[in-house]
Amino acid sequence: MAISQQVFLRDAMRRLNLTRDVFAARIGVKRRALDTWLLPEGSQEARAMPEVVSRFVTEIVENGALMEKYAQSAQSGPLRDRISASGKHQLLSVDQFTRESVEELFRVADLMQPIARRRKVSRVLEGAVLGNLFFEASTRTRVSFGAAFCRLGGSVCDTTGFTFSSMAKGESIYDTSRVMGGYVDAMVIRHPEKGSVAEFAAATNIPVVNGGDGAGEHPSQALLDLYTILTEFSRLGKLLDGAHIVMAGDLKYGRTVHSLIKLLALYRGMKFTLVSPPGLEMPEYLLEQASRNGHVIEQTHDLAVGLKGADVVYATRVQKERFAGENMEGYSADFQINRAIVDACCGPDTIVMHPLPRDSREGAFDLSTDLNHDPRLAIFRQTDNGIPVRMAIFAVLMGVEGLVQHSLRDVTWSPPSHIGPDDSVFHGLD
Ligand code: CP
Repeated sequence: MAISQQVFLRDAMRRLNLTRDVFAARIGVKRRALDTWLLPEGSQEARAMPEVVSRFVTEIVENGALMEKYAQSAQSGPLRDRISASGKHQLLSVDQFTRESVEELFRVADLMQPIARRRKVSRVLEGAVLGNLFFEASTRTRVSFGAAFCRLGGSVCDTTGFTFSSMAKGESIYDTSRVMGGYVDAMVIRHPEKGSVAEFAAATNIPVVNGGDGAGEHPSQALLDLYTILTEFSRLGKLLDGAHIVMAGDLKYGRTVHSLIKLLALYRGMKFTLVSPPGLEMPEYLLEQASRNGHVIEQTHDLAVGLKGADVVYATRVQKERFAGENMEGYSADFQINRAIVDACCGPDTIVMHPLPRDSREGAFDLSTDLNHDPRLAIFRQTDNGIPVRMAIFAVLMGVEGLVQHSLRDVTWSPPSHIGPDDSVFHGLD
């Protein structure tokens, strides 16, 4: 680069008419990383901008159409209107997002971090009630949506399983949803049938969030997964555009990977390697959708081959409960992601993810616990990110995201600096 990176970046921000915050978000890096690239050369904190960032910024600035798109800011109306489904403020599928709107949601999630990390409290949803309707087993999604709503000042009513709901007496989705809409201000629903949450959503005008519909989608999980990847990449000085993502495991029934591959396909020049046992491959319609933007998609049954050069390894559990005649009990040992194969095939900057729960029973060969002390294992950073991302989803759907910043107060108690005994030193730090 003939000019210094500071001059180059300042010129790009000026030409795009973007603040540092918005510029950092637009190019998919943390504000802190951008700040270090803008420091004068020779200063102790200054860092060299990765070559891939330089190429990306040059491309945005030189391409008029792209520049217009990237220069767009909040003036295009409230985010909840831009991501609405059927004109309603609901989150049913990641198809509702563009790259710009997903990154706007993540800026709201960043705003929520001090609350999620128990340094600040907010009451912007005081008086609002969430109805959590979970007709399938869940720990993370149900509790973290509930905790997210409570941390914004709201309260939660739960029903779990068919047995304790009047659906066991034959009540329809329409009646259940309309009745609940009269009791609560927002609903999160998990149901074993694909498409069922959209049916709930059609029967009410209150915000509805899909907490997982059979083998369909799990949009909030994919959003927190993408948020985690961007956060980890920012720490590692990597850009998501051009990254190599390996998805491994039950790609046929794993709804988290169905949503995640669509979100990742909003980025550019991606390489996806899909590793699954025979018979559990990613459905064809998703391969077709993900490859539309010219991404490279490779499929293999050989884990060691698939993991080579991965920036992200995303493992999934065998979804035995959804099997429709498949003749297998679980993974065989050669499908297990463990310390040995990660050390042999991946680099020090690879991150290992899993939506959880992982099946830790002997013989399941799900993601091994022998990586628990390895900082590449991002699974608990991933679950912790469920709170700010789900808070952001509620704040946006309920139109209060603009009130959060000024509502913050200090907490009155002292949380531990690290939640887990095996948390890496950078866990919880931006
Ligand atoms: N990842 C996930 O959906 O976890 P739960 O099934 O525990 O909600």
